[in-house]
Amino acid sequence: MSYVRYSGSRLKKCKNPPVNWRRKNQNLSLSSDLPPKGERFITMLIQKAFSVSRALSTSRYLSSLLSIQMHTANLPKSPYFSFYSNNHCNFLKSKPLSIYLPSVSFPYCTSSLSLGKSSGKGGLPIAALLEIGGVKIAKDDVVKESDPTNNVPDSIFAKLGMQLHRRANHPLGILKKTIHDYFDTNFPGKFEKFDDLCPIVTVKQNFDDVLVPPDHVSRSYNDTYYVNSDTVLRCHTSAHQAELFRNGHTHFLVTGDVYRRDSIDSTHYPVFHQMEGVRVFSPEEWSGSGMDGTAYAAAELKKSLEGLAKHLFGDVEMRWVDTYFPFTNPSYELEIFFQGKWLEVLGCGVTEQAILRASGRTDIVAWAFGLGLERLAMVLFDIPDIRLFWSTDERFTSQFSEGKLGVKFKSFSKFPPCYKDMSFWINDGFTENNLCEIVRGIAGDLVEEVTLIDNFTNKKGMTSHCYRITYRSMERSLTDDEINELQVKVREDVQNKLKVVLR
Ligand code: PHE
Repeated sequence: MSYVRYSGSRLKKCKNPPVNWRRKNQNLSLSSDLPPKGERFITMLIQKAFSVSRALSTSRYLSSLLSIQMHTANLPKSPYFSFYSNNHCNFLKSKPLSIYLPSVSFPYCTSSLSLGKSSGKGGLPIAALLEIGGVKIAKDDVVKESDPTNNVPDSIFAKLGMQLHRRANHPLGILKKTIHDYFDTNFPGKFEKFDDLCPIVTVKQNFDDVLVPPDHVSRSYNDTYYVNSDTVLRCHTSAHQAELFRNGHTHFLVTGDVYRRDSIDSTHYPVFHQMEGVRVFSPEEWSGSGMDGTAYAAAELKKSLEGLAKHLFGDVEMRWVDTYFPFTNPSYELEIFFQGKWLEVLGCGVTEQAILRASGRTDIVAWAFGLGLERLAMVLFDIPDIRLFWSTDERFTSQFSEGKLGVKFKSFSKFPPCYKDMSFWINDGFTENNLCEIVRGIAGDLVEEVTLIDNFTNKKGMTSHCYRITYRSMERSLTDDEINELQVKVREDVQNKLKVVLR
């Protein structure tokens, strides 16, 4: 996978763009002097980009595809982007191009999703100022209601700085410590631990530095929380790899909270925790082995991670599955046969040389792995719902203590669910993640699941979705009135913010 990064040298300010595009009735039309080939090419790109999502992502998507830089600074006021191309598009070479996107709404921007007061629900009040790893973070730095390049709601800000993985008696802290112990025992004094690195990182750290392709879906506003167009809440702990390589670290474990926009069910939550492990080898280490560096690192990787899986799960059956990650080659997933099923434990591989080269090292190889702590803790401690990790209910928290991996969680009685269905005609910009964020913003952790239960398109081409929302508290019975009130608010917000038509 290779892509050309924008060099910046051709960027100039564009005052009077000579080429204009207008979007009318969902179709793009051209009012310009572009040659036909260029016209077709750009139309295809824009349509493709629109099918992925809408304006902001479109600008990112196009800029990455064309390897150009868009000017989006005045986006909220004037609905157009303008950009200069580099030498990838000959027909654009000397011309700045503007794309007009009139009346584009941003259903996923913060202003429509931040739901103020309700986000403290069931938890602690939201602090206005946090400190993570020595970095002071004010709420206004992360949640910017009027900035369309920001899609971080209050409910997500409320999770920043919680650092569940640093609580010694929390299942995630217990699991982290157990993994640390494994590496300390097998590689005494070698692995450095980082668990306080700030989750607010640049797009470059999160994606570019680890070779995530420009059109990779994880970069979209639908999948990632953007603080602004250059800054995100990390969506994986791999965001720290390049910097740690650059700073000369050779053996390290990074644990942290990561953020992904997602659907709602018992195993998905927009904030979860990952651990990244990395080990570097120098030529002396593999020269005597008869293998090349990559083969040697792959063999060492498998040995170390099979040992880790045994340390966590006992003597289980394991298998390696080939997979793809942009930052490793070869790449694998480790699966174990546990409680009657194959369970994916982690992703890993041999670090791409381009990442190491960029950090100034040409003579080394490295392995890297990433694992989701919740996923493993749910299995090891028998925790049935991912929301429980955030519970402050003593009936949950008192069941776990430092050093005790695998103590089985005893459910306190399960409270009855309450189902509410809602149907609406969707529009082009509709995504399930946006819907889930609205529901989560209103109902907080009272929402257990959002499921699409019906989907059809009528003769006029209008598509209807029906979603079933399951409300259930893990701590108490909910009253009808309480749920009805939430549901009314959900319906209102879904209609107003996602611009869908309720049926
Ligand atoms: N970052 C990957 C993820 O989030 C996991 C991973 C890390 C895979 C390191 C390979 C190497 O899915």
